[in-house]
Amino acid sequence: MDKARIAILLSGRGSNFLALREAIERGEIPAEIVLVLSNQANAGGLAKAESFGLKTICLPHRGLARAEHEDQVLQALRAENVEWLCLAGYMRILTPLLIEAFPQRIVNIHPSLLPAFPGLDAQQQAWDYGARIAGCTVHLVDSGVDTGPIVMQTAVSAEGLSSGDELAAKILEQEHRLYPRALARLLGGPWRVDGRRVMFPSR
Ligand code: GRF
Repeated sequence: MDKARIAILLSGRGSNFLALREAIERGEIPAEIVLVLSNQANAGGLAKAESFGLKTICLPHRGLARAEHEDQVLQALRAENVEWLCLAGYMRILTPLLIEAFPQRIVNIHPSLLPAFPGLDAQQQAWDYGARIAGCTVHLVDSGVDTGPIVMQTAVSAEGLSSGDELAAKILEQEHRLYPRALARLLGGPWRVDGRRVMFPSR
């Protein structure tokens, strides 16, 4: 199977990037990471990518209009012939420029069972709400905040935990399993979007 040329976009520590990279190295995802892009020069994930010898680029957004920054991002992606984008803690809301350049080829992981708790600090939101079941979601990206069609989800029990941080750690473990599985499924065979539903043929 041809390997998809993927870019990872991140703004922080990059543990989901590592999980994706390890699964790719194990041959579980038919993909090649051709670029790791960050808007934050001090992102831990960027340093890790460099240490692996991956191609990296930092495009700070500060001082730029949103459209101007995103145009720079798009040029960088085009220069590497990127086919798919994996958002992994990328703290920017995408504009239609990128979304239309990669139709149904932008994937994100969010640390809640969407549509509950979109936006920032989702795990703390779930904890503060008293949710007894929390979790994580891999979804296709549209122009809303964490609103795109759901690809896969994993539920996590909050029973017996004593803080939002504990819940976040428990969810993160599952994120590292879910994201590679979901990406492998998207890249590994046919699927389509029917309304809000990502349809995989039964197997
Ligand atoms: C993860 O919790 C992910 O769900 C969210 O941002 C966080 C990124 O963590 N979108 P990391 O940088 O992958 O460790």
